[in-house]
Amino acid sequence: MALHLIPSSLAWLRDQAEAKARDALISVLSAGPIPKHVAFILDGNRRYARSKHRQIREGHYEGFCALRKMLEVCMNLGVRCVSAYVFSIENFKRSPEEVQALMDLAEEKLLEFAQQGEILDKYGIRLVIVGRWELLPERVQIAAQKALDRTAKNKNAVFNMCFPYTSREEIMNAVQQTIRERLEDESLNEKITVDDLEGHLRTAGSPPLDILIRTSGVKRLSDYMLWQCCDDTQIQFSDKYWPDFGFWDFIPIVLDYQRKVWASQA
Ligand code: FPP
Ligand code: MG
Repeated sequence: MALHLIPSSLAWLRDQAEAKARDALISVLSAGPIPKHVAFILDGNRRYARSKHRQIREGHYEGFCALRKMLEVCMNLGVRCVSAYVFSIENFKRSPEEVQALMDLAEEKLLEFAQQGEILDKYGIRLVIVGRWELLPERVQIAAQKALDRTAKNKNAVFNMCFPYTSREEIMNAVQQTIRERLEDESLNEKITVDDLEGHLRTAGSPPLDILIRTSGVKRLSDYMLWQCCDDTQIQFSDKYWPDFGFWDFIPIVLDYQRKVWASQA
């Protein structure tokens, strides 16, 4: 073998060994309790870009790649509902250039999601846009509609793309919808229950939230899944910037979840 081929062959062998180790770990973990719903606050894209002397939009691009990989890991593990905070309503206050770059990325990736053989199609994942999507530019709404139509019949799993989202808007919207229905059927004098509001949340139909993960060392919820987090949710913070967060960061979190479930059954 020519000497210059040795480093690339070693890298290939290393990648193969890692892929085998991952598959083996996934098989072992899959024998235990698997969270039904995992949510991610993808934080740290800009700090990641700055740390590598790259442009902000490249940080967001890498953030999307990390999201796609994490979605794949979740599917291989058997997690059937994944939520991601990809754009807060508050993010519209960022510079017009950054908002434009994020919308361009969203349009591009939603059109990819609408394609046959792409990740949502491959794993049978139904896309749900969770948020006030009427705030999005028309071209992004059109791309989103294509991805929703393409994945509407998928039954294997759900991907909640929270975009543009805040929890307080979601809860306020649930209250407004509930009252509107009560006015229509003239039952406003009946007590409004937790179940009534829950049924009108934008995430209605998703399983209870088992794990919420926020990256980049920031320890706050930033108006994300405030209602859903009350369901015995395991909240985890990682110091990694989102684009660096991957399989080996996620696995210890799943192990913690399994320990918690086993302890509660003991
Ligand atoms: C948080 O990092 C990230 C975002 C506001 C956007 C997340 C978006 C993606 C992962 C890409 C996919 C996006 C769409 C719209 C499809 P930050 O910008 O707050 O970075 P910082 O915390 O370092 O400032
Ligand atoms: Mg941030």
